[in-house]
Parts: sequence; structure tokens; C-alpha cells
Amino acid sequence: MFQNAKYIKGLTDIKDQPDSRPIVLLLGRSNVGKSSFINSITNRKNLARTSQTPGKTVVLNYYLIDDTFYLVDAPGYGYAKRSKTDQDNFVIMLENILMNASNLKLVCLLIDFKVGPTTLDLETCEFVKSLGHTPIVIATKLDKIPKTKQYKQMKDIKMKFHDKIDIYAISNLEKQGLDDIRIRIMEGFK
Ligand code: GTP
Ligand code: MG
Repeated sequence: MFQNAKYIKGLTDIKDQPDSRPIVLLLGRSNVGKSSFINSITNRKNLARTSQTPGKTVVLNYYLIDDTFYLVDAPGYGYAKRSKTDQDNFVIMLENILMNASNLKLVCLLIDFKVGPTTLDLETCEFVKSLGHTPIVIATKLDKIPKTKQYKQMKDIKMKFHDKIDIYAISNLEKQGLDDIRIRIMEGFK
């Protein structure tokens, strides 16, 4: 599971998708750990580019996993330095994939476990739902909260989503919580 991963291409319009294999879309604030998540879930160090310069990717990056489905790394939202044109294109691109990609099987909304869901995270969640998808939440950077406080933090995060959503806490740094998500992703294709 997730043994074989390769980068295929970046695209801005789903008409350019490599083929109709299922896709799992990763959404989240810039710097939340989307690219790191692709690296850790595939056990690779540098498959997806992680950067200190956030928000650079303005394309949907397709990674083929086990020859069966694509993980799609979307540009981070909430990146202040992005130009108006890039921001508009980002929203159009997102709407396009959410509304028109019939092979879209799962939307993963990544948030920062320590920060909790921001207003923009909650708005994005609602936006995804309004277009007919029920996202799962992946809360990254679990390692930044001491173990004794993790339970309470998880409870607080759940409350902010009104308990209506599946939330997985992970650490890309310490490789925690990844198996549960691998299983959840695979379930999405049944
Ligand atoms: P954009 O491409 O700008 O949208 O960002 P991104 O969501 O792809 O974030 P990226 O994976 O590049 O990670 C941003 C920073 O957070 C990097 O410095 C990572 O090393 C760090 N990071 C990612 N995941 C974790 C985690 O689980 N724990 C800790 N401590 N740091 C993490
Ligand atoms: Mg990235």
C-alpha cells in the first residue's frame, strides 16, 4: 500500500488530467504540510517539493500511487503575496475540480493541529461541502503539542467542526497517524 509513487505532472485544468483514475485532492492553507504529507504517506523524502517559500505552486500536482489512483497536491490558500490574477485562477481551478472531476473520490482538508481550524479553513470546508463533497480533515504537526494536551486539542478542533467530520491527527515529522489515513483513503475506492 502506497509503495509505488511517482510524480506525473502539474496541470491547471482537469481536461488535462493524465487519465480517469480516481483522485484524492489535498487542500489546505499554505505551509500546513500538504507536500510533506505526500512525502510521508508514500515513505519518500523528496517526492513532493516542500518549501520555506510558501504558496508557490499554482498548479494541481498529480502523483500516481500504486498505479491505481492520484494524490493531487493543490496550491495552498491564504497566501498573502499571491497576485490577484493567481488568486482568481486558483479559485476557478478549485471550483473546476470540485464540480467537474467525476473521478474525484475524496477531498482531504489539511489543517494545523496546534493552530486549529482558522476561519479560512472553516470557510473552505463549507465551500467544499457546498459543491457536494464531504471532506475529511487531516490535522498536521501533531508533534507540536505535548502528548498530555493532545486529547483536549482534538476535542476543541472537533467542536469547531461541529463534530460532523472525520478528523485524523498526524505528524509528518514523527510519521504518526499515517496508517489510519492510508486505510481511509483506500476505503474511498470501494
Ligand atoms: P504550500 O506548498 O506552500 O501550500 O505548503 P505545504 O502545505 O505544501 O507545506 P509543506 O509541506 O511545504 O510544509 C511547510 C513547513 O512545515 C515545512 O517546513 C515542513 O517541514 C513543516 N511541516 C510539515 N508537516 C509537519 C509536521 O507534521 N510537523 C512539523 N513539526 N513540521 C511540519
Ligand atoms: Mg506544497
